[in-house]
Amino acid sequence: MATINIDRLEHKRQLLQSSLDSAKSPVERNRLGQFATPNLLAIEITRYIATMIDDDEINFADPSIGTGSFFSAALAILGKARINSAIGVEVDSEFSSSARNLWGEEGLQVITGDFTEFVEKSSNLTSPNLLLANPPYVRHHHLSRDDKKRLQRLVQRLLGVDVNGLAGLYVYFLLLATYWMADNGYAAWLIPSEFMDVNYGASLKQFLTSQVTLIRIHRFSPDDIQFGDALVSSVVLIFRKTLPPVNHATEFTFGGTLSNPETKERVALNRLRESRKWTVYPNHSQDERSNISDGTGITLANYFRIQRGIATGDNKFFIIEQDEAKRRGFPKNCIRPILPSPRHLKETVIKSDQDGYPLTNPKLCVIDCDLPEQIVEKRYPKLWEYLLSADSLGVKDGYLVSKRNPWYQQEKREPPLFLCTYMGRGTHEKKPFRFIWNQTNAIATNLYLMLYPVKSLQRMLVNHPERAEEVYKLLCLVTGNELRGEGRVYGGGLHKIEPKELGRISALPFVERWPDLQMDVIRQKMLFE
Ligand SMILES: C[S@@+](CC[C@H](N)C(=O)[O-])C[C@H]1O[C@@H](n2cnc3c(N)ncnc32)[C@H](O)[C@@H]1O
Repeated sequence: MATINIDRLEHKRQLLQSSLDSAKSPVERNRLGQFATPNLLAIEITRYIATMIDDDEINFADPSIGTGSFFSAALAILGKARINSAIGVEVDSEFSSSARNLWGEEGLQVITGDFTEFVEKSSNLTSPNLLLANPPYVRHHHLSRDDKKRLQRLVQRLLGVDVNGLAGLYVYFLLLATYWMADNGYAAWLIPSEFMDVNYGASLKQFLTSQVTLIRIHRFSPDDIQFGDALVSSVVLIFRKTLPPVNHATEFTFGGTLSNPETKERVALNRLRESRKWTVYPNHSQDERSNISDGTGITLANYFRIQRGIATGDNKFFIIEQDEAKRRGFPKNCIRPILPSPRHLKETVIKSDQDGYPLTNPKLCVIDCDLPEQIVEKRYPKLWEYLLSADSLGVKDGYLVSKRNPWYQQEKREPPLFLCTYMGRGTHEKKPFRFIWNQTNAIATNLYLMLYPVKSLQRMLVNHPERAEEVYKLLCLVTGNELRGEGRVYGGGLHKIEPKELGRISALPFVERWPDLQMDVIRQKMLFE
C-alpha cells in the first residue's frame, strides 16, 4: 500500500516539476541552478548508499530540496518507518511549497530560505545522518561579491577551510552541509566534476581526503549528459562524516551507471592527496585522460611562454577581411593580420604571402591602433568613419572595450611561432586540440593558445631556424590522452585547455632530441635548490 502511495506522489511530483521548469526561462533556472535530479538516478544513488547504513533511525536532509526527488527516493528505498526525521531547505518558494504539499504528510519538513544562511541557525534542528543532495550549480561570477565574501568567511569560521574565490556555490554547499551533518552520517552529492581538476577545487579535495572518509566517486561519461539542459559533466560523491582510517582507499568509477560502471580503480588516499587532477582515475582506456609523468619534471612550460590569444571585445567589429579593409581604405599601420577561427582554419602549417598575411581563406585582419582619436580622425578619415559606427552598434559598451585606451587598441602580442587550439572534441586517437605552425605575421584570438619559444629553445631556433619544423613535429606527437589529461572536459565531451595546463605536458621528447636544451632547466633547478 505504502509503495503505491509513493509511486502516485512521485508521479505527481514529476508533473509538477515539469510545469515549474517550463514556467521559468533558462536564465532564471540558471541563476538558481534549477536542474532536478532524474528520479531514477536519485533512486540509484539512494539504493547504493542504503547498503552502507546500519542505523535504523534515519534523519534525512536535502539542503536544496527542489520538489523532492531525493526524498521521494528515500521513501521508496528506505521506507517511511525507518525515517525518523526529514528536512528539506529550498530558496525558491514555488519549489518549497510544492515539496511541502507533496511530502509534508510523509514527514518532510520544508524550510523556505537560503541554505547557506540557514546552516548557522540549524543547531535546534536534528543533524542529518543521511544527506542526499544535488546542490545548485551557480558559477562564481553569478555570486555577488558580498555573497562570496560572506560564504568564504562562514566556511573559514565553521570549518577552517579557505575556499578559492573562483569556486561555484556547490563547493560552499557541500562544506556547510557536512558541517551540519551528524558524525558518522553518510552523504551523497551529485555535483559537477570540475572541482576534481581545477585550482579552485584544491581546498575541497583536501577536505575530502582529510576530514571525511571518501568512499566513492563515480564520474559519468562526459558524453552522457545527465541533465539534458545543464552543460556540465557530473560526479556522484559518497562519503561518511568521520576521519578516514589509515590506509583508506577511495573507489573511483567511470562511465555507465553508478551500479554498473564501465571501469573502476581503488586509489589510496596518500596517492589521491598527491594527485593534482582526479579525473585521471580510474586509469583505464575507457577514461581517456591521463597525466603522463615522465619523472623528469621537464615540461612545455620550460620551453614555451604560453598565452591565450587576444580578446578583441567584439570580433565582428574589429576583425574584417583584408580585402574589405583595403576597399575601405584602412591604413596598413592600423591593422594587422589575424588567423581565422579554428573552425575555418583547414591548414595546420600556415604559409605567408609577401605581406606576412596567412594564405588562408578567409584572409583576415584586426583593427589595432594606438593613435589617439583626434589623430585618427585627422589622418585617417576613412578608418575614423568606420570607428564612428561603433557607437550605434554598442561596441563600446562592452567591458573590455570600455576599459581600453584608445578603445580600438588591442593587447600587445607578437606573432607566435606555434599555436594550439583552445577547445575541441576528440576521443580515442582523435586529439581534441590541434597544434599549428605559424609562418606568418598573424596573431590569433582567444580561441587559440599562443606558444612562444623561450630560453634555450628560442636560442636554438635563432641559430637553426630550420629546426622549427622538427619542433612542430614534436608538438604534434603530444597524444590525445595527454591533452585530455591536462585539459578539462565539459558535458557533451567538449575539452578546453588553459595555458598553464598545456604548459604541464612533458617536454621530454625535446630534450631527448636536443640534449643541450636541458641545460636551462638544470640551471634553473639548481638556483631553486
Ligand atoms: C540542482 S537543483 C536540485 C533540486 C533537488 N534537490 C533535486 O535533486 O531534484 C538545486 C535546487 O537548489 C535551489 N537553490 C538554489 N539556491 C539555493 C540556496 N541558496 N538555498 C537553498 N536552495 C537553493 C534551487 O531553487 C533548486 O531547486
